[in-house]
Amino acid sequence: MDLSPEPLSPDPRWRAISEPTFLMCPPELYDVSYVINPWMEGNVNRSCRQQAMAQWQQLHCALAEIAQVELVEPQPGSPDMVFTANAGLVHRGVVALSSFRHPERQGEEPHFRKWFDDSGFGVCDVPRATPFEGEGDALFATDGSCLWAGHGIRTLLASHRHLSQTWNVDVVPLRLVDPRFYHLDTCFCPLFGEYLMYFPGAFDAASQSRIEAHYPEQRRIAVAEADALRFACNAINVGRTILLNEISGELRSRLESLGFALIEVPLSEFLKAGGAAKCLALRLSEMDVTHNAARSAHAASPRAQAAEPEPALQPPGIVRYNTRYYEENRIRFAARRAHGDAFLGG
Ligand code: ARG
Repeated sequence: MDLSPEPLSPDPRWRAISEPTFLMCPPELYDVSYVINPWMEGNVNRSCRQQAMAQWQQLHCALAEIAQVELVEPQPGSPDMVFTANAGLVHRGVVALSSFRHPERQGEEPHFRKWFDDSGFGVCDVPRATPFEGEGDALFATDGSCLWAGHGIRTLLASHRHLSQTWNVDVVPLRLVDPRFYHLDTCFCPLFGEYLMYFPGAFDAASQSRIEAHYPEQRRIAVAEADALRFACNAINVGRTILLNEISGELRSRLESLGFALIEVPLSEFLKAGGAAKCLALRLSEMDVTHNAARSAHAASPRAQAAEPEPALQPPGIVRYNTRYYEENRIRFAARRAHGDAFLGG
């Protein structure tokens, strides 16, 4: 079988992602037009697009300071497309494309597929029969040791099998039980240095035990309900930096005492649809690139040098990113496509 139907000449679409990189979608067509979670109730047509644009710009600017930000074009009829974290889950140059539970969001799928395809990612489909909502419901531990995957509200437990097959990773299921925290990324946030910020009340008892078995107590930052409702756990983390909606002074001090630098951005317009910072950006870079590249950028800044030492954080060992996955996947997917296989693991 010929495994290299495409030439391997340098092509900018296939370059390895060597700095923290995220995908965002400008809110030009953002709206609350239907109700598929409790946050949207009472908010239909109640969001202000101008205000949403200003808040999104602020988040985009803050993120662009520490990461590369790619953009996907908003599409008519897909008002929730701003929440790019739900497009899929990216790992090793492959995206497991979301298969949305609600028909209201299924129209986004072909647009995201096209973006990933055009951008050189391998695209894996998750069957419609097993809904999966991307990084909204699946988050890698920052050291890459396992994939935490939510289920019970949007993503179906049976979809997790596709994730483990796609990347040969350990998937740890976490059952969500509170409809206000309908996606894993609304209540669970692995942080650089193997910390975890989370809202325990969003999980059933067995899932809470799984979390406690993995993260020792001193690494677990359990947030109070008031902060959880401010979407504190829906935070973007790049190395020592955390971008999130406004939170309590208490939580802020706690995170700062652990060595994190916080950037709070008001995101009230997006809370009306049930989303905040993390939902608005999808990670495209590998975990090690996302955290370690950012750490060295931070360490190089004079402000950071003045603030040294920061003993509270014990970063995992530096793993240098290499282009291997991209070349491997590129060849693998070209071959798969040539043979008409839709799903890599199936
Ligand atoms: N209205 C969207 C929905 O209910 C919000 C998605 C928020 N995204 C997230 N990753 N939590 O699907």
